[in-house]
Amino acid sequence: MEKPSKIAPAKGKLGVLLPGMGAVSTTFMAGVELVRRGKAQPIGSLTQMGTVRLGKRTEGRSPLIKKLVPLADLKDLSFGGWDIFKDNAYQAAAKAGVLNPEHLGQVKTFLSGIQPMKAAFDHEYVKRLEGTHVKKAKNKYELALQIKEDIANFKKNRRVSRLVTCWCGSTEVFIRPEEVHSTPEKFVEGMKNNHPAIAPSMLYAWASVTSGVPFANGAPNLTVDIPAIQQLAHDNNVAICGKDFKTGQTLMKTILAPGFKARMLGLEGWYSTNILGNRDGEVLDDPGSFKTKEESKLGALEYILQPQLYPTLYGKIHHKVRINYYPPRGDNKEGWDNIDIFGWLAYPMQIKVDFLCRDSILAAPIVLDLVLFLDLAQRAGMRGIQEWLSFYFKSPMTAPDLYPEHDLFIQSMKLKNTLRWMMGEELITHLGQEYYD
Ligand SMILES: NC(=O)c1ccc[n+]([C@@H]2O[C@H](COP(=O)([O-])OP(=O)(O)OC[C@H]3O[C@@H](n4cnc5c(N)ncnc54)[C@H](O)[C@@H]3O)[C@@H](O)[C@H]2O)c1
Repeated sequence: MEKPSKIAPAKGKLGVLLPGMGAVSTTFMAGVELVRRGKAQPIGSLTQMGTVRLGKRTEGRSPLIKKLVPLADLKDLSFGGWDIFKDNAYQAAAKAGVLNPEHLGQVKTFLSGIQPMKAAFDHEYVKRLEGTHVKKAKNKYELALQIKEDIANFKKNRRVSRLVTCWCGSTEVFIRPEEVHSTPEKFVEGMKNNHPAIAPSMLYAWASVTSGVPFANGAPNLTVDIPAIQQLAHDNNVAICGKDFKTGQTLMKTILAPGFKARMLGLEGWYSTNILGNRDGEVLDDPGSFKTKEESKLGALEYILQPQLYPTLYGKIHHKVRINYYPPRGDNKEGWDNIDIFGWLAYPMQIKVDFLCRDSILAAPIVLDLVLFLDLAQRAGMRGIQEWLSFYFKSPMTAPDLYPEHDLFIQSMKLKNTLRWMMGEELITHLGQEYYD
């Protein structure tokens, strides 16, 4: 692809549409508002805090990313969303219990003004939830058209110049790609016939992409990871990315595993277990939704360690992932890892990781970065899958014949080189021979 010749400026307001207004969405919106008011810092957000080195190390040029590329300003973000419950964003945030009362109190009026639109929902796809605030229609196609109408109304009523959608809804049951996902025509036909392999998240994806609105998928559902939606993204010049925010345990895995491989240390097994007590944990307690999550979490090690290239080191890995719903923990997940590695002459060693993390605190800055970067990509005319945003995902989407890159450090280099490339700056190879000539 050619470097974008001109990136349209971030003029006007940017609408942020969130299907699913639960723990992650409300923590994200509350956080943006607290930052806008100077009450908190956007820790964890690359777009707000990150820098990018330009040129030679001797030049001392390392601007903030937001100074290098024309990102939307936080003050220009305007939020909306859908949920299967009527609660406004303040009530939903209070129930999610992520932020403390002091923080919530400061943004109570702001959050109370964000009312979810009625959701396109079907209990068959999220077995642990029963929706009360849901759309009615004779088939899935009609539901998708109603979402399109919501998007158009939001744009008009809020007077936003651009929009981005980020799926922050629950994890749906595991669905394999089928014939009905293969082309836009078959997909529309499938929606009209209520095909069971078309999940509600796909209706939001179809509605967004056909409305010219970029779409990020924060859950492990297929959603935009099907040829029909990818074709539509291409045809409508829309940027898409996914899937499944890379937070707690998988973030750790993609930090540690590249280190083992770089030093040629072997791996015999990796046992990961989690206790989690929020609504996401409850949804994942259902085997169908867990299967979707499990597939997403299992892929990372295999791709990073490349057992086909290193059969002695990584040919026989026992990799297990468990998630246990344990209500007393709320959003404060505990992720344990027992890692059995081996070194020189195959002597075994063990590493234990116990990550006492906060799920939504890790996810919220990812939502912000994805919204801002997708909007940037859209203005730069970059359509289809945005692989440079793999950095943010457990299960990155790629072109059909490519394997995904999971190594966090390669992903970070790729992201920063993409920003340099967009702005016509020299790419950085880290070769550095010229300093010794
Ligand atoms: N660290 C993280 O928190 C993290 C990491 C990776 C992925 N995720 C994924 O992000 C998503 C959101 O996580 P969360 O902790 O906010 O969960 P949550 O349960 O608090 O919020 C999800 C919301 O989506 C709503 N919902 C479900 N189906 C819907 C539909 N069809 N339309 C509109 N709304 C719908 C639910 O009612 C709920 O309010 C989940 O899929 C989760 O697996 C979260």
